[in-house]
Amino acid sequence: MKIYKTNNYYEMSCKAANIIAAQMTLKPDSVLGLATGSTPEGIYQQLIAKCLKGEIDFSNIQTVNLDEYVGLDKDNPQSYQYYMNSKLFSHVNIPEGNYHLPNGMATDSETECKRYDQLIEDLGYVDLQLLGLGLNGHIGFNEPNTHFSKGTYLVGLAKSTIDANSRFFENYEDVPRFAYTMGIKTIMSAKKILLVVNGKAKAKILKEVVTGRITPEVPASILQLHNDVTIVADSEALSLL
Ligand code: F6R
Repeated sequence: MKIYKTNNYYEMSCKAANIIAAQMTLKPDSVLGLATGSTPEGIYQQLIAKCLKGEIDFSNIQTVNLDEYVGLDKDNPQSYQYYMNSKLFSHVNIPEGNYHLPNGMATDSETECKRYDQLIEDLGYVDLQLLGLGLNGHIGFNEPNTHFSKGTYLVGLAKSTIDANSRFFENYEDVPRFAYTMGIKTIMSAKKILLVVNGKAKAKILKEVVTGRITPEVPASILQLHNDVTIVADSEALSLL
């Protein structure tokens, strides 16, 4: 694992965006694995700025997102498709058809999970997977004690994740209880992984992820076994390491 420490969230975002931009420059038809949540927002802003300046080009890039809530369609402002459109896709030159998320409205979950895994395989697997870190050590929506051998699947979200996600919803009852997520096996099949972490609240879990036992109790601890992981984190998140 390579770990880069930055002074703050802005520098973390710039550094991570530079790593993604370098990937896009070296391989203009890269498959990028993307994440939602608060952490990557600054990265997407940096990528938009680079694209507007002509420094990076999305025209041959394909993207696959980690996850999507079940029951929210793409026009629902809380869906991850909506998040991605508003925070990245509608501002850059990525062709429609080049970005992919699980379909939260799919009625047959088994077929949907197979479709998503097949899509990733057909794209030649993810070249660079961007990950945020949940307070309980989740990556994607792989909650503690998920089996490491899973491909994409339908997951019931942990109470701590529902609580954390409720900040984006008006009513607690509206927070979805289920999501489709890439499994750990899918995430580990990415050629490179970029984990971004900021803030004091994540210092303890980040320490466990990097130096603790590899255990399904801390899903992100599996990253210790991947051969190309880069962590970009601010000094608060790295304060216990
Ligand atoms: C989002 C995702 C989640 C988040 C994690 C951290 O697509 O898969 O694993 O990365 O919950 O979320 P934030 O960045 O909001 O702290």
